[in-house]
Amino acid sequence: MEIVFATHNAHKSKEIKKLASGIATIRNLSDIGYETEIPETGTTLKDNALEKCQFVKSSVLLPVFADDTGFEVEALGGAPGVYSARYAGTPKSDEANLQKLLHEMKGKENRRARFRTVICFLKNDQPLFFEGVVAGEVINTPKGKEGFGYDPVFVPDGYRQTFAEMDLELKNQISHRGKAFSKFIHYLRENAGK
Ligand code: IMP
Repeated sequence: MEIVFATHNAHKSKEIKKLASGIATIRNLSDIGYETEIPETGTTLKDNALEKCQFVKSSVLLPVFADDTGFEVEALGGAPGVYSARYAGTPKSDEANLQKLLHEMKGKENRRARFRTVICFLKNDQPLFFEGVVAGEVINTPKGKEGFGYDPVFVPDGYRQTFAEMDLELKNQISHRGKAFSKFIHYLRENAGK
């Protein structure tokens, strides 16, 4: 089965392509020569995932899925949450977002945080949603060179390394997107050919 992943984020595509190998062929937007910026104007992860999916689906024939992820920090009342990509304003910058987060977390004792991903899948008219969550703590000093976004300051529960210190295989096993995507793959397997 061939599916389009509605993202311009090369890191996300790499993660998902690895997880899907042998089950589905994932085409990201650069694979299909799609260059348009995708809008993200919702106030929930679900709204954004649906918006990205519908936007791309309007110009491709293949089934499409999109994800939206938020980094939810307890001490910040759940921020940056759905606004994680543009936490430090525009143009969006992972480095500026990370610096803003560290600034906001200065002196905060409660370090609890979680990543949450919602995947939307659009084959026909009816969208389907799959969710994945991973909880952990925010550290003060970024560590590691892998991954992207807030990975260098997030240590998932049960581990000592940040996501940015893990290889992709381990991150995928425990991550928000990995969990949401596993549910999606399970659905595809069960419904193959339908
Ligand atoms: P979106 O799903 O592309 O809207 O992601 C929102 C923001 O969360 C982006 O700025 C990403 O940098 C960040 N983000 C998404 N997924 C991850 C991840 O797996 N690790 C670290 N940051 C992430």
